[in-house]
Amino acid sequence: MSGKNPDDPLAANLARWEEQVDIHVGSDFYRVKEFKAGETSLDPLILSEIGDVAGKRLLHLQCHFGLDTLSFARMGAEATGLDFSPKAIAEARKLATETGLNARFVEARIDAAAEKAGTGYDIVFTSWGVLMWLPDLDIWARNIAACLKPGGFFYIAEGHPLLWALDDEGATIEENFRIVRSYFLDGPQRWENAHDYAEPSVTLTHFSSNEWQHTLGEVVTALAEAGLRVEFLHEHDKLVWPAVPGMTRADEHYFMAPEAAPRLPLSYSIRARRV
Ligand SMILES: C[S@@+](CC[C@H](N)C(=O)[O-])C[C@H]1O[C@@H](n2cnc3c(N)ncnc32)[C@H](O)[C@@H]1O
Repeated sequence: MSGKNPDDPLAANLARWEEQVDIHVGSDFYRVKEFKAGETSLDPLILSEIGDVAGKRLLHLQCHFGLDTLSFARMGAEATGLDFSPKAIAEARKLATETGLNARFVEARIDAAAEKAGTGYDIVFTSWGVLMWLPDLDIWARNIAACLKPGGFFYIAEGHPLLWALDDEGATIEENFRIVRSYFLDGPQRWENAHDYAEPSVTLTHFSSNEWQHTLGEVVTALAEAGLRVEFLHEHDKLVWPAVPGMTRADEHYFMAPEAAPRLPLSYSIRARRV
């Protein structure tokens, strides 16, 4: 497993994610109690753009502890979730048992997705806070294409890469929505951040991470070069987590920039089909 090699840039990330699993399962952010009571964990943007999944073979990449995978299972999909965190996969299986939902969970890195999760999927799905953990989008896209059957599609909803460039330490809200960092940065970027996005009261012990700043152009080009035809690329002025201080709630699902700030793209969604 990637955690054993100290030279592996993913080792620090894995240690951090392993620590976060229990914290997230117990957090208000992930709403596990509401999920168990029957609520979906999927937000309206994803639900409207992905369409009917009933009867479809669906692979969820970077599934964390399985909430979205199990939400798709509840909608009638034959769902498989994949994540490299053993703790996350164990929690996902436990949640499946507790809710009586039928889904398969696979412990693997993204670069072994096709090998470990198999092929012939109608839909490959991933969302919110995934791409910055991946060193190589060409390998990612090739795995997606290999997992899909011809005619099947890939769907992603993700934070916009422009977020990396915005000031998040400005003195005023307006300052936080100014560009102060490069949009183009070679990775990995080493972060030392003990803050947990889902449980701000917690200080993480494994606070280092290695992250890659992929541009929107890189994402689309990797998918195209892997043989997928992009059917839409939508940019949105809302996001499911408050990435920049001063963001306000748009509604129960999304955060947006405050009125005083410029209207910038904060997230995007793509559907791309294997031809
Ligand atoms: C923000 S979470 C997943 C997003 C999901 N929307 C959520 O909030 O539950 C990112 C996930 O990516 C997983 N991950 C990070 N790097 C990975 C890799 N190289 N291969 C597979 N999984 C990885 C982590 O274990 C974590 O569960």
